[in-house]
Order: sequence, then structure tokens, then C-alpha cells
Amino acid sequence: MKRASVAVIPAAGFGTRFLPATKAVPKELLPILHRPAIEFIFDDIVGAQIPESVLITSENKSALAMHFSEAPNLESHLQSNGSEHLLEQHQNLLSNTTIKYAIQDRQLGLGHAVLQAEQLVGDRPFAVLLPDDILLGGSSFLTKMLAVSAQLKGSVLALKRVPPDMISRYGVVSASQIAANQYRIHGIVEKPSIHDAPSDLAVIGRYILPPTIFHILRSTPSGALGEIQLTDGIAKLIESEPVFGLIVEGDHYDVGTPQGMLACALTLGLEHAEMREHLLEIFRKWSQK
Ligand code: UTP
Repeated sequence: MKRASVAVIPAAGFGTRFLPATKAVPKELLPILHRPAIEFIFDDIVGAQIPESVLITSENKSALAMHFSEAPNLESHLQSNGSEHLLEQHQNLLSNTTIKYAIQDRQLGLGHAVLQAEQLVGDRPFAVLLPDDILLGGSSFLTKMLAVSAQLKGSVLALKRVPPDMISRYGVVSASQIAANQYRIHGIVEKPSIHDAPSDLAVIGRYILPPTIFHILRSTPSGALGEIQLTDGIAKLIESEPVFGLIVEGDHYDVGTPQGMLACALTLGLEHAEMREHLLEIFRKWSQK
């Protein structure tokens, strides 16, 4: 498979686990410290030198496109008081990837969201990054996934071992190990019960996929939760093309839940020289209560 030159980011979901915060503000723009969650995903894309991205949004999430468009008034205000650095990291992301948009007009599931990228992706292999999954240091992991896909000539999914009580929240694979941290995937099932789970290897929101998946998704019926599942499309793909798994490296946070987002923010805060002492002080006070 050729190296994926485009990334697809499905961000059209309702984000119900963050209501009421997400009634007007897209989940992907909620801040982790001072940065919107979605920028961590673009860190990975830009770091892995993927030059083009397709963001899947919905009609009522136009703030996402606004976030990535130019803001001349704000920029001239920052210039006039010498604080351009406040937007520097953001501008660097913008100048290193081209962002295109596709609208998912009905929230019919992740597989359906990915399908909305078909026209913009065309016949190229592509990466899918779910903004709910933040991997600190994730650009080197995405680079590794791209390299494994090119070397083994197949799709690659990010995998993580999860405890039994968590397994029913994920897509879960049956797989055989082929090298350290690398697996050949034989089957995949979405949100299995503990008893039906084929292993403890869950799929995390990073995928390298071939364009043939679009054809498959077009005829994939609704599955778990009544949604068109990407997992079901991949299960079909496995019948005709090799699919591999790579165990995630680096800290992984599920920022699709308030507690996961808080854990990610706390970790980054504790790594931040100026915030660290302040946070430790709060913890000290609490441990004395
Ligand atoms: P989730 O179901 O975990 O996220 O979908 P959600 O719908 O945004 O949030 P909750 O569950 O209501 O709290 C995983 C990813 O797939 C995208 C979501 O935006 C999220 O990034 N997605 C899901 C779509 O783009 N379209 C869909 O129809 C469903």
C-alpha cells in the first residue's frame, strides 16, 4: 500500500457525554488547558508529515471550520500589542496541513462519517484519527503505523490491551502476534460482551485504511447501537485484504468523556513548570481532608 497522504477526522458526533457543554460548542473545541482537543490530533497529522486532512463535521458544528480559518482582526490586534506568540502554535499547524471539509448530515455512525470523505480522498490510502483519542507523543506512533502499513502492504489499526470490565466499550480483535507489538488481525467485533470478546486487544482511534473500504462501507448495514460501524466495514475488509495491528505507544487518553479529558489536562498541567506547583498544592490540601 502507498503511504497515506491524507487524514480523515470524523468530528460530526453529538458529543452527548459532554452535555450541556456541547449543545453549542463542538466537543473537539473543548480546551485541554489552553488548546482545543482537536489541535492534538493535528499535532499528530503534521508531525507524521501528512499534508492534507478532511474534517467531517455537521451543519451545527460550523465553529470547527471557523476555528481553522483566518482571523484578520484578532491577528492585527495581537500584532499591535506584540503578543503574536499566543497564536503561533496554532498558525504553525495551519501552515503545515491543508484542511478540507465534508458534512455528515445525519449522525448514522462512525462508518457513515468516514464514508463522507470518499470524494475528497479518492483512490488514496488514508489515515483515520478519532479526536476522542489523544496520544501524547502521537506523531511518532502515527509515523510508525504508516511505516508498518507500507512495509507489510496492508491496513493498520492501533491496539491497546484493556481490562475485562472495559472491553464492551470498544471494537475488539482476534489476532496473532507476528513481531514485538505487531499483530495480524483475523477478525474484529464492535462492543462485544465480556464473554464474546475474542481477546483483550481493543482498537484505539487510529487507522490506516485503503480506499476499498469506501466501497465496503457503502453496503454495510447498521450494526451495534443501530449505527453504520467502521468496525463492521473492517471485518469485511479482513476477508479480502491483510489488516495488521500495532500496540499503542505513549500515554493514551479517552477525551470523549469528562473524566478522560480531565486526566489528560491534569497530566499536561503537571508537566507544565508554572502549573505543577499549583496543582500539587490542590492535591496536598485534598489529601489532608
Ligand atoms: P462517539 O459516539 O464516541 O462520539 O463517536 P460522539 O457521538 O461525538 O459522542 P457521544 O458518544 O454522544 O458522547 C466516535 C467518533 O466518531 C464521530 C464522533 O464525532 C467521534 O469523533 N462520529 C460518530 C461521527 O463523526 N459521526 C457519527 O455519526 C458518529
